[in-house]
Amino acid sequence: MTDVVDLDAAVGDGLAAVEAAEDLDALDRAVGAVFGKRGAITRVQRTLGQLDERRRRELGRRVNEARADLQAAIERRRSVLEEERDRVMLAAEAVDVTLPARTPKRGSLHPITETMEAMVDAFAGLGYQAIGGPEVETDWFNFTALNIPRDHPARSLHDTIYVEPLDPDSRADSTLLRTHTSPVQARVMLAQPPPVYVVVPGRTYRQDTPDATHLPVFHQIEGLAVDTDLTFADLAGTLDVVARALLGPDIRTRLIPDHFPFTEPSCQLEAASDGGWMELLGAGMVHPNVLRAVGYDPEEVGGFAFGIGVERIAMLRHGISDLRLFIENDLRFLSAFTTV
Ligand code: DAH
Repeated sequence: MTDVVDLDAAVGDGLAAVEAAEDLDALDRAVGAVFGKRGAITRVQRTLGQLDERRRRELGRRVNEARADLQAAIERRRSVLEEERDRVMLAAEAVDVTLPARTPKRGSLHPITETMEAMVDAFAGLGYQAIGGPEVETDWFNFTALNIPRDHPARSLHDTIYVEPLDPDSRADSTLLRTHTSPVQARVMLAQPPPVYVVVPGRTYRQDTPDATHLPVFHQIEGLAVDTDLTFADLAGTLDVVARALLGPDIRTRLIPDHFPFTEPSCQLEAASDGGWMELLGAGMVHPNVLRAVGYDPEEVGGFAFGIGVERIAMLRHGISDLRLFIENDLRFLSAFTTV
């Protein structure tokens, strides 16, 4: 009965190896050890030929049973191991769709930019076209064309930042960082015949040490309207509409006398809501000398001009009391202006 013992031992070893297989590769090796060319069952089968018929049948039947038992055990183990493999793989590849998405951080417009755009929008609604101009200007555009006399304090080194001329051959008396956006008045009028309705947003420069109310680099919006029938009432009405658009419908405005070389008469616009009156801008009727300087005939056309400090409007719109906040790039300040 050695064959029977061998078969039982082969089946026992085979089943143990199948059960012990910890992964699908180990199971394949266990299957090889049982059913392979030199496998235990195969070796038992080979002995069948040497047996007489009765014993051969008997052993053959038992071998078949053993094969079936082993096969069943192998399939059971295989499905357990496959499930295990899939589980591990799924866990490794899992994407947690419940995690909050990483939203890109949205920036926002700097309060000066936002205010400047709101101002340009308000004037665009009245039919004004926005244009730009150079920040490096010549003496002629910045001063002379604007009827600013030789002895005017704005021309002094103390107030104005002069630079080397861009073009050394230029016949400009001097070259400077523009002290206001007003020089673009002359540039526009030289470039086109009347009527003119433009606003000029831009950066301006003066010799100033930064403090709560001064910056050496700041922003203005210049306005110029030249036509055949403009009056001081048009100036007053235009500025009143824009002040309400920027500072709210309850704002009240008034004009008080002032002086600028390039306007006559000249005025300041003051505004009040609940507090006292505060200065918003300078304005006036375009001086005939300015019109003459660009070849316009003051007998034919006339108009008004104004210059608004953008920082001042931004301070009023947002209740800011120190100009330096605008240039310090402190995110705690800037992120309060998430307007877009
Ligand atoms: N350019 C002036 C300044 O910088 C502001 C100004 C005043 C502009 C009156 C004007 C104006 O066009 O009419 O202080």
